[in-house]
Amino acid sequence: MTVLMEVKNLTTRFFTDEGTVYAVNGISYVLREGETLGVVGESGSGKSVHAMSIMGLIPSPPGKVTEGEVIFRGRDLLKLPKNQMRLVRGAEIAMIFQDPMTSLNPVLTIGRQITEALQLHLGMDRREARNRAVELLAMVGIPGAEKRIDDYPHQFSGGMRQRAMIAMGLSCNPQLLIADEATTALDVTIQAQIIDLVKRLREKLGMAMIWISHDLGVVASISDTVQVMYAGYIVERAPVNELYKDTRHPYTLGLLNSLPRLDQPDIPLIPITGSPPDMRELPTQCPFAPRCPFAVEKCWQENPPLLPVEGGHPEHLAACWVDVREARRNVNG
Ligand SMILES: Nc1ncnc2c1ncn2[C@@H]1O[C@H](COP(=O)(O)OP(=O)(O)O)[C@@H](O)[C@H]1O
Ligand SMILES: [Mg+2]
Repeated sequence: MTVLMEVKNLTTRFFTDEGTVYAVNGISYVLREGETLGVVGESGSGKSVHAMSIMGLIPSPPGKVTEGEVIFRGRDLLKLPKNQMRLVRGAEIAMIFQDPMTSLNPVLTIGRQITEALQLHLGMDRREARNRAVELLAMVGIPGAEKRIDDYPHQFSGGMRQRAMIAMGLSCNPQLLIADEATTALDVTIQAQIIDLVKRLREKLGMAMIWISHDLGVVASISDTVQVMYAGYIVERAPVNELYKDTRHPYTLGLLNSLPRLDQPDIPLIPITGSPPDMRELPTQCPFAPRCPFAVEKCWQENPPLLPVEGGHPEHLAACWVDVREARRNVNG
C-alpha cells in the first residue's frame, strides 16, 4: 500500500498566560492510502490539537506548531501558504466535527452550502452542483433529498445534520476524511447508523480516514489501525485486533477494561485511577506513571520512547518500560 501522509515529530504548544500547554509532543506516524486510523484517548490528550495542526487550523496566538512535518502527497502541509492550504482543506482533506452546527452556516440552506463548495473547488455550474448535491445527500441517506436540500440546518435533526456534514465533507472527493468526535453527540442508535454509513462510503470512495474519539469501542469498530494518545504522546499503536489481543500499554489496558468484555470475563479490572496529567509540564518521566499499576523505578526517571514491541506484530508499537504481559501474569498470580 502507498503512503498518503507522513506525520513527523509533530509538536504543538499553546503559549497562554497560565503557562505553556504541551498539547502535542513530537508524534510521528504514517497513514496509508485507504487506511482508517483511529485515534483514542481521554479528553485533553491532544487528539483534536493533532488534527487541527495537520489542517493548519491552530489558533495563533496562543497556539503554534513549533516543530515537525506533515508530508501529504509529497508536500509539507505545514509549509504551504495559507491560500494553498485552504484549497487542500476544501478539496483533498475534509474534516467533520462533533457539532455540525458549528460548521454549518445557520443562515444558508444545506444545499447552498454544498453547492458553493462544488462550484468553488470543482468549477461546476449551479445546475450541475445542485444535481450533485442532491446525489450526495441521497448517498448519505437523507430521504427526500431533492426537497430537503432547500432546508436550513435547524430543520434537520442531529443525526441528519451529521449526515449533511459528511455529504459536505465528501463533496469534493477528498483523499482523507478526518472525523473528530463525529458521533459523540448522537445517541447510540444514530451513532451506529452513521458509522455504518461511513464504512460503506469508505468502501465505495476508497478514501483514508482519521477517526478521532474518546470512546475506544467506537474507534475499534471502524479502524484498521488504532493509535492511543496520552498527554500529547502516542503511547501505543497497533492494528486493531493486535491492540485487543496483545495490549502492551497499561493505559490501553485501562481503556479496554472500561469496555464490556463478554469474551474474556476473567480478566481482572484495572481501573484508571488518579487524574489526567497537567499539560503545562513536559514530563521527564513516563507521563502515565502516576496512574500506572505496573510502574517501576525507571518509569519515574525516563519517558519511554514509542518502539516496536518485543515478540509481537511488526506494526505494533508501545511506549512502556514494563513488559505488560509479565506484569499482568504477576498480578493475576
Ligand atoms: N486554544 C487553546 N488554548 C490553550 N490550550 C488549548 C487550546 N486548545 C487546546 N488546548 C489544550 O491542549 C490540550 C489538548 O487538547 P485537545 O487536543 O483538545 O484534547 P482532546 O484529546 O480532548 O481532543 C489540552 O490541555 C487543552 O486544554
Ligand atoms: Mg477533542
